[in-house]
Amino acid sequence: MLRNTIALGDSEAILRTLPSGSIDLVFTSPPYYNAKPEYADYITYEEYLLKIRKIIQAVHHVLAEGRFFVINVAPVLIRRANRNEASRRIAVPFDIHRLFIEEGYDFIDDIIWEKPEGAGWATSRGRRFAADRSPLQYKPTPVTEYILVYRKHTDKLIDWNIRAHPEPELVKASRIEENYERTNIWRITPAHDKRHPAVFPLELAERVISYYSFKKDVVLDPFAGIGTVGRAAVRLDRRFVLIEREKQYVEVIRHEAKSWLGHKAKHILTINCSPIDISDTLF
Ligand SMILES: C[S@@+](CC[C@H](N)C(=O)[O-])C[C@H]1O[C@@H](n2cnc3c(N)ncnc32)[C@H](O)[C@@H]1O
Repeated sequence: MLRNTIALGDSEAILRTLPSGSIDLVFTSPPYYNAKPEYADYITYEEYLLKIRKIIQAVHHVLAEGRFFVINVAPVLIRRANRNEASRRIAVPFDIHRLFIEEGYDFIDDIIWEKPEGAGWATSRGRRFAADRSPLQYKPTPVTEYILVYRKHTDKLIDWNIRAHPEPELVKASRIEENYERTNIWRITPAHDKRHPAVFPLELAERVISYYSFKKDVVLDPFAGIGTVGRAAVRLDRRFVLIEREKQYVEVIRHEAKSWLGHKAKHILTINCSPIDISDTLF
């Protein structure tokens, strides 16, 4: 069984080094195609999709049979270059959906993450319509993102995953509380962190992890950012595998992991970065 792991590097390459079937759940939010200047490192949208496809493929190898890959995605807005051009929206979730199906996953659910009042107004989308209210100019302010749920293809029922679990007492201990979310609209306030431009809220990661994994399971985030999935995994008694290619974010994860795990942080497996030193840390 995999230890808590922090890896610096391209997840396509790192995933190829992990044992097959060693991951029990994936929750991630991929880089958004050119949505923000710091992500503008794919020359074309096709090139971007190809990279995402390769990572979906590499994850397929490490994910256990019948387990879930949950992904947070939203259409992106490509800003206009000048006043004579229109801005464009790219429906990334619908293109990514096809990749999952082609790479051997079954579609399970589309959950809508709704951001409460006011979130999204900063994009100024719809300002033009608000001024003259001319038909055809209507543009709603986006206040949602998708949480798409896929399952690695198997002919076995989900019930099989539950009954085949080697430790039935862990299955029992992982039961979800009575006041769980009944519908596919999840209202959760977005999170902001000055250390990363696109973190997801801890509450979102916790909800996904508790609904789609058991205690002691290994949860992977191949686009880990500053490691929200790792923090949530530890809080819920799961293990984490975090892969991130930007050193500055991996440094944040390495630092934060000490507050998540205390002394146990020294047991974290680190790949392409130095082991976690807790000798000068006061707990
Ligand atoms: C949307 S952010 C995820 C933020 C994360 N959910 C959090 O809460 O901190 C996507 C991250 O993927 C990383 N990334 C992009 N391409 C990658 C790749 N090929 N391998 C590993 N990480 C990658 C980016 O550096 C970025 O930090």
